[in-house]
Amino acid sequence: MNGRQNPNQNPAPRQNQRPPQRKKKKYYFRPNKEGMQALLILVLIAALIITLLVLTIKGIASAIGGPEETTTAETTTAETTTEAPVVVTWHDDYVKQAVPSTDVAVGDLILVNFEHKYELTDTITKQLSALSNSEGYSKYFVLGKQGYDTKVRRNILPHLCEMLSDLVDASPVLGTTTEHDRVVINSGYRSTEYQQGLYEKQAVENYVAIPGHSEHHTGYAVDLNVFTAKGDTDVFRDDDQAWLEANCADYGFIVRYDGAKFELTGILDETWHFRYVGKPHAQYMSENGLCLEEYLSLLRTTYNFDTCDAPLTYITGEGEEATTYEIYYYPASADVNTDIFVPKAGTYSDISISGDNMNGFIVTVTK
Ligand code: DAL
Ligand code: ZN
Repeated sequence: MNGRQNPNQNPAPRQNQRPPQRKKKKYYFRPNKEGMQALLILVLIAALIITLLVLTIKGIASAIGGPEETTTAETTTAETTTEAPVVVTWHDDYVKQAVPSTDVAVGDLILVNFEHKYELTDTITKQLSALSNSEGYSKYFVLGKQGYDTKVRRNILPHLCEMLSDLVDASPVLGTTTEHDRVVINSGYRSTEYQQGLYEKQAVENYVAIPGHSEHHTGYAVDLNVFTAKGDTDVFRDDDQAWLEANCADYGFIVRYDGAKFELTGILDETWHFRYVGKPHAQYMSENGLCLEEYLSLLRTTYNFDTCDAPLTYITGEGEEATTYEIYYYPASADVNTDIFVPKAGTYSDISISGDNMNGFIVTVTK
């Protein structure tokens, strides 16, 4: 080899040799101060336009009654959670009043009959008043078989005297002197011993209650008859009896024994036996033809505090004389005390609570 190179041969490439490149020109966004301000204004205008557009679309959607937009989270909650409806009862804001549970045997509405004994007979003497001490004695009435010592519950005395006074005023024959027929109270409170004597001597069954089971033991019952000018004892003339039956409830009394209710009361027809229960109760029973057994059963079943939708609302009188009562039954507790729920102070004018001599209490709210 001579060391000469063939001219047709390419020369050997030079290692790492690159063709020369044109240098690229770079552009930078470098606005001056005025440019920056213009840009900011443009961004703000764009944001404003977008906001207005969104609000307009929403407004149109709601105007045509479309559903409110809800988020996925809200929809899920609504679908999976069913809130229990809040049940508002008529006694939600009532407050507790503790009453000894043994007081089921105490009050104007206690039931005493062949099924329900009165245990307190011989312990209530301090709650009795002698009729001979009342202003009506020897005027609107005289005293009969039980004599000068005839007694009744102190709280019924004014109601009894007022009723007999009005009866005498309304009667064409009854009067206040010995020349007239007069009302005679033949029986009031009876001890167990006295009732025992009557029971043993009774000529006809089912007129004298079993000792311990007589309403006369409570002091809330009286037997009313006529003591004639001739000195006989008789039943009332028809018109006087009719007046008493029509009006006794206004004074809080009921004619206790209707022969038609014998199965319930165990006593035959006694037109002379009047029992004090309190005005609204007497009027409701009279209006609805209920005996005491039926009335207390109605309150216990239909107007039970625990289960009823509303208490028994009853209005006595009319116009300015109208008085509204709310009456309900409250079951007695097995504990020493029963916490009876009653309306809050300031929402009524009076509250009275009576036992029923069974298993509960009757609450009477005077509005
Ligand atoms: N005569 C009534 C029922 C009584 O003995 O209590
Ligand atoms: Zn009687």
